[in-house]
Amino acid sequence: MRYYCLGTKFQNRCVLLYGFFNQWVNKTLVLPAIAASSYSQVIIIIIKSYKSAVRFTFAATMAEFPHDKIKPFSAAGGKKEQVSAMFDNIAGRYDFMNRFLSAGIDVSWRIKAISLFKKDQPRHLLDVATGTADMALRAAKMLHPQKITGIDISPGMLAIGRKKVAAEVLSTEIELLDGDSETIHFPDATFDGVMVAFGVRNFEHLEQGLSEIYRVLKPGAQLVVLEFSKPKIPLVQPLYNLYMNQMAPFFAELFTKNKKAYQYLNESSKAFPDRENFVRILSEVGFQKTYFKPLSFGICCVYSGRKAS
Ligand SMILES: C[S@@+](CC[C@H](N)C(=O)[O-])C[C@H]1O[C@@H](n2cnc3c(N)ncnc32)[C@H](O)[C@@H]1O
Repeated sequence: MRYYCLGTKFQNRCVLLYGFFNQWVNKTLVLPAIAASSYSQVIIIIIKSYKSAVRFTFAATMAEFPHDKIKPFSAAGGKKEQVSAMFDNIAGRYDFMNRFLSAGIDVSWRIKAISLFKKDQPRHLLDVATGTADMALRAAKMLHPQKITGIDISPGMLAIGRKKVAAEVLSTEIELLDGDSETIHFPDATFDGVMVAFGVRNFEHLEQGLSEIYRVLKPGAQLVVLEFSKPKIPLVQPLYNLYMNQMAPFFAELFTKNKKAYQYLNESSKAFPDRENFVRILSEVGFQKTYFKPLSFGICCVYSGRKAS
């Protein structure tokens, strides 16, 4: 096992218990309150505050992974604030660096990931960690859903994303919102599909983010994750390491004057639970029919899982 996960079974039970608790509150308190009381708004606000408090209590018991602790700038301070500041800093050059560093191959990875939704024909898609809306724009053109909502914690990335969306005249179809994967501000079972491209590695609490995604998916709906992974082919491994350790930070310094951001990319990719482990985490959160497909000799991987029907 390449990652450490303390008390996994206990934490899984917590996630399940939270799910049951959530359903119970909805069925026994929220719905009757709406039906019976003129003070329903007040009651619902109190119940929602109570539910958030419980959610955070359960989140505190969730597993911790090595990459959760890898932060862009310093070991002290929160990962989320540092990640958001780092992406704000590189937002203007982010798309260019993606194309340049991957020699354009990332476009084919994105197309493969979005194609997994073709059978589902989702009407409302959520793009978590949407960044500059690359996935949202591509999904709009490939899948023609009624609506795509993108959420991200970096205002700088969202600002670039909004400009791109406006330039493509897709502002009616694509809405970009400030939002954290770990507290998604949408009701349970809202979305027909959720995608996360190169985002899960940046979550401060991986399981909490995945549980939130599970909660907002409709029963049977699909989550698609795209993420870097470590190649396992012997000849590819040293080339990959040379590229990630030396070349990517060199070009990052050259073009963005922010070597740290791409050192963080390297370190967080190495520490991220790979393939089988990530699929197992998806199953532990509750996802079914999980699988992965390595892409481009395994330097990237696409994952899929579905919420129970
Ligand atoms: C590498 S970029 C990926 C952007 C985009 N999905 C793409 O494919 O190009 C990672 C993004 O994740 C966002 N992010 C990190 N943690 C997040 C969180 N907890 N909730 C929402 N977005 C987050 C960052 O702000 C950043 O925009």
